[in-house]
Amino acid sequence: MIIAIDGPSGAGKSTVAKAVAKNLGFSCLDTGAMYRCVALAALEEGSDLSDEQRCGTIAREKAISFGHVEGDPVPKRVFVDGVEVTDAIRTAQVDRSVSIVSAHPLVREALVEQQRRLGREGDFVIEGRDIGTVVFPNAEVKVFLTASNEERARRRVLQNEARGVGSVDFDEVLADIVRRDELDSSRTTAPLTPAEDAVQMDSTGRTIEDVIDDICARARAARGF
Ligand code: DC
Repeated sequence: MIIAIDGPSGAGKSTVAKAVAKNLGFSCLDTGAMYRCVALAALEEGSDLSDEQRCGTIAREKAISFGHVEGDPVPKRVFVDGVEVTDAIRTAQVDRSVSIVSAHPLVREALVEQQRRLGREGDFVIEGRDIGTVVFPNAEVKVFLTASNEERARRRVLQNEARGVGSVDFDEVLADIVRRDELDSSRTTAPLTPAEDAVQMDSTGRTIEDVIDDICARARAARGF
């Protein structure tokens, strides 16, 4: 079974996806981390981020993998060619660069192929922007998770503070969120938009636990248990 969780940055997708996976005993895939890995690799080799061919080659050739922190069933560590990049892909510089890289069709083609291959391996909660529309249009459960811009900025600041990476300036984070939404929604390939059959959930006035329970209940109903 595939549970697709799409939505803009900071809506709570990661927290919700990981908790739903844990509750149901599913694997979990953070596709945003994969786009971040390509942006980081392009930045590190000093490539022009607008060079679609080069970014596409990076997406095809770099081996992106996920790993577990001991005792945690949900994979939270990220590796590129065996080198850990879990924190390196969350910097403000990667935040600023990733929308440019993820707008390239060649990059999307390469990563979507990897995501489909991974997702066929079993039961998955997959979070991203285009999972219900492009990557797995037949996903059994599709959720489009949103929250107000201010709420999303507030959560991102808390997350960056806890991680010790990325900006903790509310106005800067809010401006980046608005700018990225605009880029993600207006790109020609796989723009950020809800699938027609997705359940739209606004997490602004709800607790994260309530959203998690709601999605788990939908998954159980879809599977008939
Ligand atoms: O979820 P995130 O903020 O880590 O995502 C990073 C970027 O990757 C974001 O700008 C949108 C892009 N992305 C995408 O285009 N498609 C996906 N399936 C996941 C993320």
